[in-house]
Amino acid sequence: MAELEEVLQSLAEDMSARTDRGAVAGYIPQLRKADPQRFGIAVALNDGRVVTAGDADEPFSIQSISKIFTLTLALGKVGDALWRRVGREPSGNPFNSIVQLEREMGIPRNPFINAGAVVVTDVLLAGHQPREALGEILRFIQFLADDDSIIIDRDVAASERATGYRNFALANYMRAFDNLEHEPELALGVYFHHCAIAMSCRQLALSTRFLAHEGRNPQTGHSVVSAERARRILALMLTCGHYDGSGDFAFRVGIPGKSGVGGGIVGIVPGIASIAVWSPGLNENGNSKLGSVALERLTRTMNWSIFAP
Ligand code: DON
Repeated sequence: MAELEEVLQSLAEDMSARTDRGAVAGYIPQLRKADPQRFGIAVALNDGRVVTAGDADEPFSIQSISKIFTLTLALGKVGDALWRRVGREPSGNPFNSIVQLEREMGIPRNPFINAGAVVVTDVLLAGHQPREALGEILRFIQFLADDDSIIIDRDVAASERATGYRNFALANYMRAFDNLEHEPELALGVYFHHCAIAMSCRQLALSTRFLAHEGRNPQTGHSVVSAERARRILALMLTCGHYDGSGDFAFRVGIPGKSGVGGGIVGIVPGIASIAVWSPGLNENGNSKLGSVALERLTRTMNWSIFAP
């Protein structure tokens, strides 16, 4: 698709020239090392083509984008029982907020804020050693991307563990409300490591293809989740995937998306494509600043908003 190639190329050139790039995440020391000048984008079309521009093959820390994969696995394991322990409403609060958790008796608003994702990880730990649960998550992602080279960046995980006081506070809180079956140390150990998985835009776009194709890999036809479950994951991405910036992302970009503090965003155009974009500088909500700008331009140019007729 020559047109898409040109659109991505010009997007990457424009984004590289911008000077107002947001601030790299500072609260996880290892993430401060990211170069704010980087920009990459990859679009995996349902017809099999992958179109990229910029630093699309450079691995970065996927952070909260990993919550798409852990949610998918947890739903596969316990199904709708998950919703007894985690809500499905946007939080309207930052991703690491603690106030709501007290008011709502240790039940996190949704599976994408940190507290909700720790409960999801706790579900994946049931009956497993942390190493096995983590292996299951990593192998699932490698399988989805069809790429065994995807790894966990242990330095990032250790760096977050050493400074993750807020997440320990959230996990301890939930344990006090009996909404964590394992010791906070164990659940967070797995959580920090799955957030520390490193992937490129190309690998991320490929690994989320199933969400753009009713739960199936569009190339192999292999079913990952049912069509209904894929739709529900997309609904959660649209309403909760950018925390207290979710409304603005839906307003500007118009597709379900999931961000991470490493500066990545995955966006899904149902029936058409999965997209991954990366630029490490973040906006005030902790979402990639130029990543959001680029996705807004892309969906507008291609008429890919899910609200388009
Ligand atoms: O728990 C944390 O704070 C990080 N491991 C993940 C947060 C994150 O990516 C929020 N995304 N925008």
